[in-house]
Order: sequence, then structure tokens, then C-alpha cells
Amino acid sequence: MKIEKAYNHWAGQYDTNKNKTRDLDKRATIETLSKFDFNTVVEPGSGTGKNTEWLITRAEQILCLDFSQGMLDKAAEKITSPQVKFIKTDLNRDWAVPNEFADLITCNLTLEHIKNLDFIFNQAYLKLKPDGKFFICELHPFKQYTGSKAKFDTEGGTEEL
Ligand SMILES: C[S@@+](CC[C@H](N)C(=O)[O-])C[C@H]1O[C@@H](n2cnc3c(N)ncnc32)[C@H](O)[C@@H]1O
Repeated sequence: MKIEKAYNHWAGQYDTNKNKTRDLDKRATIETLSKFDFNTVVEPGSGTGKNTEWLITRAEQILCLDFSQGMLDKAAEKITSPQVKFIKTDLNRDWAVPNEFADLITCNLTLEHIKNLDFIFNQAYLKLKPDGKFFICELHPFKQYTGSKAKFDTEGGTEEL
């Protein structure tokens, strides 16, 4: 299944199914980013807004980028603040974000789906303020080396992305 379609499918249960990686990411993100101040945030691969809900307690403006309409719809159900803008886009194309916009870019559990990381780092560099921060939280490389991937259960069995 293509990644975008798989996430549309996963969206309905993403927040509620058993997922230790998702929960650990949230803990690590809050623990780490609590140490910094930021007002303007870009969240590539924002998903259902699991981390956006906390980020909005700290930031004035958040731009959420994701290509899954299902995940974006779930996020929009939970987050109605005018300070958050959801943008449906493929991260492999130029991000619709003003240059030097962000104090913080936070990218969580998303880069495992991206082949050309150079493009992502280049966009991040353009969109960050000169003293901005880029936080990345991903599957541990050892998990990746042993073949672990994002996955969820469906009626037809486990769907691996
Ligand atoms: C595992 S979810 C993580 C969501 C959220 N960051 C979190 O930590 O809960 C990965 C997200 O990245 C998005 N994604 C993956 N590849 C993408 C791409 N090329 N362009 C835009 N979004 C992408 C998926 O649609 C999905 O919402």
C-alpha cells in the first residue's frame, strides 16, 4: 500500500491503538522541547496532531504539513485553534512556508518514509530562522537495522508501511 493511502487508513485508530513508539516519541518530545522557547513552529508530517496539541500550549503559530487527508482531518477535529494551520502537501516538494519563518521545526516519526533526506534538510534550513532549531525524533537505528517499520493492525492482518 502507498504510504499516503496507508496513513489515510490508519488515521481512525492512530491515536488509540497500542503504540509504544508513538507514546515514547510524545514523552521524549515534551521532555526535550520543554527546555526551549519558541513562537513559530513547522511540523512536517504532523499526522493527527499528537504533538501539535502540546506545541500549541507553547507557540503562537504552527504550520502543520502532511500529505494524508485522513491524518489531517483527525488533527483538525481535535485542534481548532486559529494559531494552527494545516497544509496538505508532500514534503518532497517545496514547503509552502515563508523562508526564515520558524524558531523550531519538529519532525517526529516521519523521516523513515523519506528517501531523499537532503531535500528535507535543505527545506528545513531555508524555513528556519538563523538561530532556529530542528528537532528530529525517529525510530532507533537499531530497530531500523533489524527491519522494524511503522505498522498497524487491520481486519486483514498487520499492515506494514
Ligand atoms: C507515524 S506518523 C507521525 C505523525 C506525528 N508526527 C506523530 O509523531 O504522531 C507519520 C506522518 O508523516 C506523514 N508523511 C509521511 N511521508 C510524507 C510525505 N512525503 N509528505 C507529507 N507527509 C508525509 C504521514 O502522512 C503521517 O501523518
